[in-house]
Amino acid sequence: MDTGLDGKAALVTGGSRGIGKAIAAAFVAEGARVMITGRGAEGCEAAAASIGPACAWIAGNVNRPDDAEAAIAAAMSRFSAIDILVNNAATNPYAGPVIDADLPRWDKTMAVNLTAPLVWSQLAWRHSMRERGGAIVNISSVGAFKTSDQYGVYSLTKDALIHLTRQLAVELAPGVRVNAIAPGLVRTEMARTLWEGGRGEIIADSYPLKRLGEPADLANAAVFLASEASSWMTGQTLVIDGGGLLTDGRNP
Ligand SMILES: NC(=O)c1ccc[n+]([C@@H]2O[C@H](COP(=O)([O-])OP(=O)(O)OC[C@H]3O[C@@H](n4cnc5c(N)ncnc54)[C@H](OP(=O)(O)O)[C@@H]3O)[C@@H](O)[C@H]2O)c1
Repeated sequence: MDTGLDGKAALVTGGSRGIGKAIAAAFVAEGARVMITGRGAEGCEAAAASIGPACAWIAGNVNRPDDAEAAIAAAMSRFSAIDILVNNAATNPYAGPVIDADLPRWDKTMAVNLTAPLVWSQLAWRHSMRERGGAIVNISSVGAFKTSDQYGVYSLTKDALIHLTRQLAVELAPGVRVNAIAPGLVRTEMARTLWEGGRGEIIADSYPLKRLGEPADLANAAVFLASEASSWMTGQTLVIDGGGLLTDGRNP
Protein backbone atom coordinates (compact mmCIF):
# COMPACT_ATOMS: atom_id res chain seq x y z
CA MET A 1 0.00 0.00 0.00
CA ASP A 2 1.45 3.37 -0.99
CA THR A 3 0.50 5.61 1.91
CA GLY A 4 1.63 8.81 0.18
CA LEU A 5 3.18 9.95 3.46
CA ASP A 6 6.64 10.31 1.93
CA GLY A 7 7.73 13.93 2.41
CA LYS A 8 4.65 14.92 4.41
CA ALA A 9 5.00 16.97 7.60
CA ALA A 10 3.29 15.79 10.76
CA LEU A 11 2.83 17.15 14.27
CA VAL A 12 2.07 14.62 17.02
CA THR A 13 1.13 15.89 20.48
CA GLY A 14 2.28 13.68 23.34
CA GLY A 15 4.77 11.93 21.09
CA SER A 16 7.45 11.29 23.70
CA ARG A 17 6.20 7.85 24.70
CA GLY A 18 3.38 5.34 24.32
CA ILE A 19 0.93 5.57 21.46
CA GLY A 20 2.09 9.01 20.25
CA LYS A 21 5.70 7.89 19.99
CA ALA A 22 4.67 4.78 18.03
CA ILE A 23 2.61 6.96 15.67
CA ALA A 24 5.55 9.33 15.14
CA ALA A 25 7.90 6.39 14.44
CA ALA A 26 5.41 4.85 11.99
CA PHE A 27 5.05 8.15 10.11
CA VAL A 28 8.84 8.47 9.86
CA ALA A 29 9.05 4.87 8.60
CA GLU A 30 6.68 5.94 5.80
CA GLY A 31 8.97 8.83 4.85
CA ALA A 32 7.26 11.65 6.74
CA ARG A 33 8.99 14.37 8.77
CA VAL A 34 7.54 14.61 12.25
CA MET A 35 7.58 16.98 15.18
CA ILE A 36 6.63 15.52 18.55
CA THR A 37 5.62 17.37 21.70
CA GLY A 38 5.34 16.56 25.39
CA ARG A 39 5.75 18.49 28.62
CA GLY A 40 9.08 16.89 29.48
CA ALA A 41 11.97 18.05 27.29
CA GLU A 42 14.12 15.04 28.23
CA GLY A 43 11.45 12.56 27.19
CA CYS A 44 10.90 14.38 23.90
CA GLU A 45 14.61 14.53 23.16
CA ALA A 46 15.13 10.84 23.91
CA ALA A 47 12.12 9.80 21.84
CA ALA A 48 13.18 11.92 18.86
CA ALA A 49 16.72 10.52 19.07
CA SER A 50 15.41 6.96 19.05
CA ILE A 51 13.07 7.63 16.11
CA GLY A 52 15.78 9.25 14.00
CA PRO A 53 16.76 12.49 12.28
CA ALA A 54 13.37 12.95 10.59
CA CYS A 55 11.86 13.43 14.04
CA ALA A 56 12.13 16.86 15.70
CA TRP A 57 10.70 17.84 19.06
CA ILE A 58 9.50 20.82 21.04
CA ALA A 59 8.52 20.67 24.68
CA GLY A 60 5.22 22.18 25.75
CA ASN A 61 1.88 21.65 27.42
CA VAL A 62 -1.02 21.13 24.96
CA ASN A 63 -3.14 22.97 27.45
CA ARG A 64 -1.22 26.25 27.15
CA PRO A 65 -2.11 28.40 24.15
CA ASP A 66 1.41 29.90 24.06
CA ASP A 67 2.95 26.45 23.88
CA ALA A 68 0.54 25.49 21.10
CA GLU A 69 1.47 28.63 19.12
CA ALA A 70 5.17 27.91 19.65
CA ALA A 71 4.86 24.30 18.48
CA ILE A 72 2.90 25.26 15.37
CA ALA A 73 5.44 28.00 14.60
CA ALA A 74 8.33 25.56 15.08
CA ALA A 75 6.73 23.01 12.78
CA MET A 76 6.00 25.66 10.13
CA SER A 77 9.52 27.03 10.31
CA ARG A 78 11.06 23.56 9.99
CA PHE A 79 8.67 21.95 7.48
CA SER A 80 6.88 24.95 5.86
CA ALA A 81 3.65 22.99 6.29
CA ILE A 82 1.63 20.87 8.66
CA ASP A 83 0.01 18.17 6.54
CA ILE A 84 -0.96 15.94 9.45
CA LEU A 85 -1.93 16.77 13.03
CA VAL A 86 -2.38 14.00 15.59
CA ASN A 87 -4.14 15.18 18.75
CA ASN A 88 -2.84 12.43 21.02
CA ALA A 89 -1.86 13.97 24.38
CA ALA A 90 -4.46 13.44 27.09
CA THR A 91 -4.89 13.31 30.82
CA ASN A 92 -6.98 11.40 33.34
CA PRO A 93 -6.48 13.03 36.75
CA TYR A 94 -9.79 12.06 38.38
CA ALA A 95 -11.12 8.63 39.31
CA GLY A 96 -14.58 8.29 40.79
CA PRO A 97 -18.22 9.07 40.12
CA VAL A 98 -18.84 12.09 37.90
CA ILE A 99 -21.32 13.39 40.46
CA ASP A 100 -18.45 13.84 42.95
CA ALA A 101 -15.92 15.30 40.50
CA ASP A 102 -14.10 18.41 41.70
CA LEU A 103 -14.05 21.31 39.29
CA PRO A 104 -10.25 21.76 39.05
CA ARG A 105 -9.78 18.20 37.79
CA TRP A 106 -12.93 18.39 35.63
CA ASP A 107 -11.61 21.58 34.05
CA LYS A 108 -8.15 20.12 33.50
CA THR A 109 -9.57 17.00 31.82
CA MET A 110 -11.74 19.13 29.55
CA ALA A 111 -8.88 21.49 28.75
CA VAL A 112 -6.31 18.84 27.84
CA ASN A 113 -8.56 16.24 26.20
CA LEU A 114 -11.09 18.43 24.39
CA THR A 115 -10.17 22.12 24.26
CA ALA A 116 -6.54 21.44 23.28
CA PRO A 117 -7.46 19.29 20.24
CA LEU A 118 -9.69 22.16 19.09
CA VAL A 119 -7.00 24.80 19.66
CA TRP A 120 -4.29 22.77 17.90
CA SER A 121 -6.68 22.03 15.01
CA GLN A 122 -7.53 25.74 14.72
CA LEU A 123 -3.85 26.66 14.57
CA ALA A 124 -2.95 23.93 12.07
CA TRP A 125 -5.90 25.03 9.92
CA ARG A 126 -5.03 28.73 10.02
CA HIS A 127 -1.28 28.31 9.47
CA SER A 128 -1.28 25.53 6.86
CA MET A 129 -4.24 23.24 6.27
CA ARG A 130 -6.73 25.88 5.05
CA GLU A 131 -4.44 26.49 2.05
CA ARG A 132 -2.70 23.17 1.62
CA GLY A 133 -5.22 20.62 2.91
CA GLY A 134 -4.32 17.85 5.30
CA ALA A 135 -5.49 15.25 7.76
CA ILE A 136 -6.26 15.44 11.47
CA VAL A 137 -6.33 12.30 13.63
CA ASN A 138 -7.81 12.56 17.13
CA ILE A 139 -7.03 9.88 19.69
CA SER A 140 -10.22 9.10 21.60
CA SER A 141 -10.93 5.93 23.61
CA VAL A 142 -13.41 3.05 23.79
CA GLY A 143 -14.38 4.73 27.06
CA ALA A 144 -16.36 7.12 24.85
CA PHE A 145 -18.90 4.39 24.19
CA LYS A 146 -19.71 3.26 27.72
CA THR A 147 -20.24 4.46 31.26
CA SER A 148 -17.57 3.92 33.89
CA ASP A 149 -17.49 3.74 37.69
CA GLN A 150 -14.07 5.39 37.79
CA TYR A 151 -13.37 7.20 34.53
CA GLY A 152 -16.62 8.92 33.64
CA VAL A 153 -15.04 12.38 33.39
CA TYR A 154 -12.26 11.16 31.08
CA SER A 155 -14.75 9.15 29.01
CA LEU A 156 -17.07 12.02 28.38
CA THR A 157 -14.21 14.16 27.08
CA LYS A 158 -13.35 11.29 24.73
CA ASP A 159 -16.98 11.07 23.57
CA ALA A 160 -17.03 14.82 22.97
CA LEU A 161 -13.78 14.46 21.00
CA ILE A 162 -15.57 12.04 18.69
CA HIS A 163 -18.27 14.61 18.11
CA LEU A 164 -15.65 17.33 17.55
CA THR A 165 -14.16 14.97 14.96
CA ARG A 166 -17.50 14.78 13.14
CA GLN A 167 -18.13 18.51 13.40
CA LEU A 168 -14.70 19.54 12.11
CA ALA A 169 -14.87 16.87 9.39
CA VAL A 170 -17.82 18.74 7.91
CA GLU A 171 -16.45 22.24 8.54
CA LEU A 172 -12.98 21.55 7.11
CA ALA A 173 -14.04 19.44 4.11
CA PRO A 174 -13.14 18.92 1.36
CA GLY A 175 -9.51 19.93 1.91
CA VAL A 176 -8.96 18.48 5.35
CA ARG A 177 -10.12 15.09 6.57
CA VAL A 178 -10.71 14.61 10.30
CA ASN A 179 -10.95 11.13 11.81
CA ALA A 180 -10.45 9.51 15.19
CA ILE A 181 -9.16 6.32 16.75
CA ALA A 182 -10.72 4.76 19.85
CA PRO A 183 -8.21 2.38 21.44
CA GLY A 184 -9.01 -0.32 23.96
CA LEU A 185 -6.50 -1.01 26.73
CA VAL A 186 -2.90 -0.51 25.63
CA ARG A 187 0.01 -1.28 27.92
CA THR A 188 1.33 2.29 28.31
CA GLU A 189 2.24 4.51 31.24
CA MET A 190 -1.09 6.33 31.19
CA ALA A 191 -3.06 3.12 31.61
CA ARG A 192 -0.68 1.48 34.10
CA THR A 193 -3.23 1.25 36.93
CA LEU A 194 -5.54 -0.68 34.61
CA TRP A 195 -3.06 -3.36 33.58
CA GLU A 196 -0.45 -3.77 36.31
CA GLY A 197 -0.62 -6.44 39.00
CA GLY A 198 -2.22 -9.05 36.74
CA ARG A 199 -5.24 -6.90 35.89
CA GLY A 200 -4.10 -6.66 32.28
CA GLU A 201 -4.23 -10.44 31.85
CA ILE A 202 -7.82 -10.56 33.08
CA ILE A 203 -8.84 -7.79 30.70
CA ALA A 204 -6.92 -9.37 27.82
CA ASP A 205 -8.78 -12.58 28.45
CA SER A 206 -12.11 -10.77 28.07
CA TYR A 207 -11.05 -9.46 24.65
CA PRO A 208 -12.00 -11.75 21.76
CA LEU A 209 -8.48 -11.32 20.33
CA LYS A 210 -7.01 -12.35 23.73
CA ARG A 211 -4.35 -9.67 24.13
CA LEU A 212 -4.00 -6.04 25.12
CA GLY A 213 -3.11 -3.49 22.48
CA GLU A 214 0.41 -2.50 21.61
CA PRO A 215 1.19 1.09 20.59
CA ALA A 216 2.01 -0.23 17.09
CA ASP A 217 -1.60 -1.41 16.68
CA LEU A 218 -2.72 2.20 16.95
CA ALA A 219 0.18 3.53 14.89
CA ASN A 220 -0.92 1.38 11.95
CA ALA A 221 -4.41 2.85 12.17
CA ALA A 222 -3.02 6.39 12.37
CA VAL A 223 -0.90 5.81 9.24
CA PHE A 224 -4.06 4.67 7.44
CA LEU A 225 -6.11 7.69 8.57
CA ALA A 226 -3.34 10.16 7.75
CA SER A 227 -2.68 8.64 4.36
CA GLU A 228 -4.21 8.60 0.91
CA ALA A 229 -5.43 5.07 1.65
CA SER A 230 -8.33 6.65 3.58
CA SER A 231 -8.92 9.52 1.15
CA TRP A 232 -12.70 8.96 1.00
CA MET A 233 -13.15 8.80 4.75
CA THR A 234 -13.85 11.64 7.14
CA GLY A 235 -15.62 12.18 10.46
CA GLN A 236 -15.24 8.53 11.43
CA THR A 237 -13.84 6.74 14.47
CA LEU A 238 -11.90 3.51 14.16
CA VAL A 239 -12.31 1.28 17.20
CA ILE A 240 -9.04 -0.63 17.68
CA ASP A 241 -9.57 -2.75 20.77
CA GLY A 242 -9.10 -6.46 20.14
CA GLY A 243 -12.89 -6.72 19.99
CA GLY A 244 -13.22 -5.67 23.63
CA LEU A 245 -16.26 -3.43 23.14
CA LEU A 246 -18.15 -6.39 21.74
CA THR A 247 -17.95 -8.38 24.95
CA ASP A 248 -17.52 -5.52 27.46
CA GLY A 249 -15.76 -7.48 30.17
CA ARG A 250 -17.46 -10.82 29.57
CA ASN A 251 -15.20 -13.76 28.92
CA PRO A 252 -16.09 -14.95 25.42
N1 LIG B 1 -3.17 3.45 26.92
C1 LIG B 1 -4.44 3.15 26.77
O1 LIG B 1 -4.92 2.08 27.21
C2 LIG B 1 -5.36 4.10 26.06
C3 LIG B 1 -6.67 3.67 25.80
C4 LIG B 1 -7.53 4.54 25.15
C5 LIG B 1 -7.09 5.77 24.74
N2 LIG B 1 -5.81 6.18 25.01
C6 LIG B 1 -5.41 7.50 24.55
O2 LIG B 1 -4.20 7.39 23.82
C7 LIG B 1 -3.50 8.64 23.91
C8 LIG B 1 -2.05 8.39 24.29
O3 LIG B 1 -2.01 7.78 25.55
P1 LIG B 1 -0.84 6.80 26.01
O4 LIG B 1 -1.50 5.64 26.63
O5 LIG B 1 0.13 6.60 24.90
O6 LIG B 1 -0.19 7.67 27.19
P2 LIG B 1 1.32 7.82 27.69
O7 LIG B 1 2.14 6.64 27.32
O8 LIG B 1 1.22 8.20 29.11
O9 LIG B 1 1.86 9.06 26.83
C9 LIG B 1 1.25 10.31 26.97
C10 LIG B 1 2.03 11.32 26.15
O10 LIG B 1 1.36 12.57 26.22
C11 LIG B 1 2.24 13.54 26.83
N3 LIG B 1 1.39 14.45 27.60
C12 LIG B 1 0.61 14.16 28.66
N4 LIG B 1 -0.01 15.27 29.09
C13 LIG B 1 0.38 16.28 28.28
C14 LIG B 1 0.10 17.66 28.21
N5 LIG B 1 -0.74 18.26 29.08
N6 LIG B 1 0.70 18.40 27.25
C15 LIG B 1 1.55 17.81 26.37
N7 LIG B 1 1.86 16.51 26.38
C16 LIG B 1 1.28 15.76 27.33
C17 LIG B 1 3.25 12.73 27.62
O11 LIG B 1 4.49 13.40 27.82
P3 LIG B 1 4.73 14.32 29.15
O12 LIG B 1 4.26 13.52 30.32
O13 LIG B 1 6.20 14.61 29.15
O14 LIG B 1 3.92 15.55 28.92
C18 LIG B 1 3.44 11.54 26.68
O15 LIG B 1 4.26 11.90 25.59
C19 LIG B 1 -4.29 9.49 24.89
O16 LIG B 1 -5.15 10.34 24.17
C20 LIG B 1 -5.12 8.47 25.66
O17 LIG B 1 -6.28 9.03 26.20
C21 LIG B 1 -4.94 5.37 25.66
